[in-house]
Amino acid sequence: MSAVLWIKLIFSAMLWVFIFLSFVTCSVSSTSEKKDYAAPRYNISLDDKAEDRWAHILKNYNMTGLKEDLDILLGSLELKWSQPVYYLLADFYLDFFAQEPFAGEIRGIAKETGFLTSEIVMMNLFYESIACTSIIVEDQDGNIYHGRNMDLFFPYNFQDVTIDVDFIKNGQVVYTGTTFVGFVGLWTGQKPYKFTISANARENNISMLKNVFSLIFNGIPVSWLIRNTLNEAPDYESAVLQLSNTPIIAEIYLILAGVNSGEGIAITRDRQYPAYFEHLNSSDGTWFLVQTNHDTWLGSPRNDPRWHIATQALNATGQENINKDTLYKVLSTNKVLNRGTIHTSMMNAASPQDYISWIRV
Ligand SMILES: *[C@@H]1O[C@H](CO)[C@@H](O)[C@H](O)[C@H]1NC(C)=O
Ligand SMILES: *[C@@H]1O[C@H](CO)[C@@H](O)[C@H](O)[C@H]1NC(C)=O
Ligand SMILES: *[C@@H]1O[C@H](CO)[C@@H](O)[C@H](O)[C@H]1NC(C)=O
Ligand SMILES: *[C@@H]1O[C@H](CO)[C@@H](O)[C@H](O)[C@H]1NC(C)=O
Repeated sequence: MSAVLWIKLIFSAMLWVFIFLSFVTCSVSSTSEKKDYAAPRYNISLDDKAEDRWAHILKNYNMTGLKEDLDILLGSLELKWSQPVYYLLADFYLDFFAQEPFAGEIRGIAKETGFLTSEIVMMNLFYESIACTSIIVEDQDGNIYHGRNMDLFFPYNFQDVTIDVDFIKNGQVVYTGTTFVGFVGLWTGQKPYKFTISANARENNISMLKNVFSLIFNGIPVSWLIRNTLNEAPDYESAVLQLSNTPIIAEIYLILAGVNSGEGIAITRDRQYPAYFEHLNSSDGTWFLVQTNHDTWLGSPRNDPRWHIATQALNATGQENINKDTLYKVLSTNKVLNRGTIHTSMMNAASPQDYISWIRV
């Protein structure tokens, strides 16, 4: 192996120790009275240089709190002694392996916020371990709705940095997505009139060795794959192929909805290949798909009521009554909505102007 591969190997090993130790699961607890509000919405011009794209958004945010939390996290993991090594390797990753435009955008964000580029790299890769509930439904007229709860358990107020972003080229919205300020990937997004995507973590079988090898063999962060797919795939079918077959650095569930009847799929991903597909199919009664971080075909997860409660709520609603409002209600059911829920994003690619993320407070 070349020196470059060795450094990549060491970097990835350390990175995955970091991610493994800091992995946050979707625990469940009851919620208090909510007063939700819509996430701030911004434009990013894809015609601007990658380094400059996020500057106008970053100006509105104070990064000090996030920096403090990053320090606390590293400190709590007793990784302080190795920080310089992490920083070195993170920079190395950015310079030699990270794809554009992500690398450029990360550099720009570091410059604008005063963070080290390595800190922004680690922040971006740390978020690889997030969750949680994604639901696709088809109503009786063949309209498709896609909703997702993003759950995160971390001592930081992600609500304050959640934003919806329209990515613009030549004055047109190419795609829309939801992210956290400072984070260049997307876990939730929409290509207008084509498809919508959300991702749920699949970390019940963490294999560090496998993660390391898939990073070496050109795996990319999942959130970058989602953004690439929103940018590149011309239609639903192409998106299914791209999401299924692109090597990624961690296992994941990718939930994709289109605009026509039957266009809905939950792809269970291994790092190199797809492991399982669940299809929406109204004609055999499968008018909804619920994904809550579990391999549902292996039997229902005992310690996670979210899947059962969401399924029950959808059964109770019925296909004849499903629409974006009733889907939002399902995602707001106690325990499906939990104390870790940061935002609920509602999507319908056929009606792209309806894209909205509600911040759950
Ligand atoms: C975002 O871009 C769209 C399309 O160019 C434009 O219509 C809209 O006014 C822009 N919004 C903001 C907040 O700048
Ligand atoms: C974990 O991975 C091993 C090896 O690939 C596989 O045999 C096992 O079934 C997996 N377990 C789960 C829960 O996915
Ligand atoms: C949908 O279900 C019908 C009825 O069971 C079946 O004939 C058809 O092949 C299914 N379609 C897909 C895409 O699985
Ligand atoms: C939902 O309805 C389907 C079809 O009637 C049924 O098979 C399933 O058990 C129900 N699930 C729950 C959790 O009620």
